Amino acid sequence: MRATRLLFFSFVFMVVAASEGEAVGVNWGRLATHRLPPKKVVRMLVDNGFDKVKLFDADPDALAALAGTDVEVMVGIPNYMLEQLSKGHSRAADWVDENVTSWMYTDGVRIKYVAVGNEPLLHTYAGKYARATVRALKSIQKALTDAGKSHVKAVVPLNAGIYDSPGPHPVPSAGDFRPDTRDLVLEIADLLAESGAPFVVNIHPFLSAHADAHFPLDFALFAGAKNPIKDGESIYTNVLDASLDTLIWSLRKAGHAGMPVVVGETGWPTDGDKNANKKLAKAFNQGLLRHAVSGAGTPARRNSSLEVFLFSLFDEDAKSVDPGSFERHWGIFAYDGRAKYELDLSGRGEEKELASAKGVDYLQSRWCILDPEAEDLTDLPASIDYACTYSDCTALGYGSSCNHLDLHGNASYAFNMYYQVKNQESGGCIFSDLGVITEEDPSDGECRFPVMIAYTSGEGTRREMLDLAVPVVGGLWTLLFLLMRVM
Ligand SMILES: *[C@@H]1O[C@H](CO)[C@@H](O)[C@H](O)[C@H]1NC(C)=O
Ligand SMILES: *[C@@H]1O[C@H](CO)[C@@H](O)[C@H](O)[C@H]1NC(C)=O
Ligand SMILES: *[C@@H]1O[C@H](CO)[C@@H](O)[C@H](O)[C@H]1NC(C)=O
Repeated sequence: MRATRLLFFSFVFMVVAASEGEAVGVNWGRLATHRLPPKKVVRMLVDNGFDKVKLFDADPDALAALAGTDVEVMVGIPNYMLEQLSKGHSRAADWVDENVTSWMYTDGVRIKYVAVGNEPLLHTYAGKYARATVRALKSIQKALTDAGKSHVKAVVPLNAGIYDSPGPHPVPSAGDFRPDTRDLVLEIADLLAESGAPFVVNIHPFLSAHADAHFPLDFALFAGAKNPIKDGESIYTNVLDASLDTLIWSLRKAGHAGMPVVVGETGWPTDGDKNANKKLAKAFNQGLLRHAVSGAGTPARRNSSLEVFLFSLFDEDAKSVDPGSFERHWGIFAYDGRAKYELDLSGRGEEKELASAKGVDYLQSRWCILDPEAEDLTDLPASIDYACTYSDCTALGYGSSCNHLDLHGNASYAFNMYYQVKNQESGGCIFSDLGVITEEDPSDGECRFPVMIAYTSGEGTRREMLDLAVPVVGGLWTLLFLLMRVM
């Protein structure tokens, strides 16, 4: 079975291997009600020249689709599995056997990293995964070595909230790991050093801007900063470098001066917040890519390349919106694999189209809207509420792409989102007889009324949803930028 698949893919990829991008990776999350088939996704990765991909689990369909390509893979262990994997080496050995070794046959999957948990030390988890993370890291790396796969490195993607810089004028060189998780992080760093693994950190300048209305956007967007931070000889004009160097200084102080650092996630959403739109997302990602491939490095590590995984590949309509409505709009591609904006992944700054997914099947071109003839609207609020509970209405909120709609438009948007999530089943457009099906696209400017793709997601979504990546940036940067404004 696998051999046949492999043959098929070798062929497909010989044909489409005309990629030309550089060392840029992307996060492939799958918390969506409807997902493109993995083969189409991988073809899209290759078409765009992504040479690295980061997964949040070890989904066999995703791995099968990646087999035979040159794409380097970071497979993931979800947080809920850490506890069991920390209980002795045989459980970890089973995981490595099924999810690493069995894929690394000749021309199989190029697995380079295993991500042990996803931001497991986040404040929100209140230490729940802390001990298990360290133990699972240890047992997974041992299992990899025992399996003759010591060149595959176990890493732990952590969020930038684990370090900060104290004092009234925080600067990267004063950075250190925060006291509450310091001991754990040092244990993790020691284990990484032992195996030669990099420190993986998720940095989200967007969240700094989201948390603080006065945050200088130019500082987030690689646009040069009116008020750069001076740190001795070093000048910081963007928050990514400032954050990375705070980490690098923290590592130096912990005796890990040379430890390589990989940015596991960074990106910019396009909807669900006043700063979330295509223009800013393009500016951020293009600035980031230009910077990453320039080879300039950061002030604390000049002339080094930045290894970066963009966040994220697709919009995911089943993600938790606890952090904000923008959570479902991080994709550089929409839910259906259509590119949202131009982006030159080579970082050379050309106006270049991304390659959208090819051969995507959609449901019929029809929409569910509020019946224009409806007179008794008593049940409308309850119907909207119901529709939005079971589908994604985040585009309706303040600062979002559909916020300008009137009451009729709001109701129609909500009805349609539910109808599409329900695969256009006739029962999905009733709403106390307020719903009616139309074949005329109700989209209104930037506010798109989607037609769903004709693929369902299969099982697994619920479990993963409990275990979401909720990136949070520590208070430091907010403080830092408040200070910068008065400097
Ligand atoms: C391999 O990974 C998958 C997907 O994350 C998981 O469901 C499965 O339990 C893992 N296998 C083992 C033996 O742990
Ligand atoms: C970085 O590269 C430039 C140009 O090659 C060189 O002049 C400079 O000394 C290098 N800096 C460091 C810190 O290596
Ligand atoms: C439409 O819905 C959004 C989000 O619930 C709300 O902010 C807005 O006020 C609504 N508009 C009207 C006209 O009801």
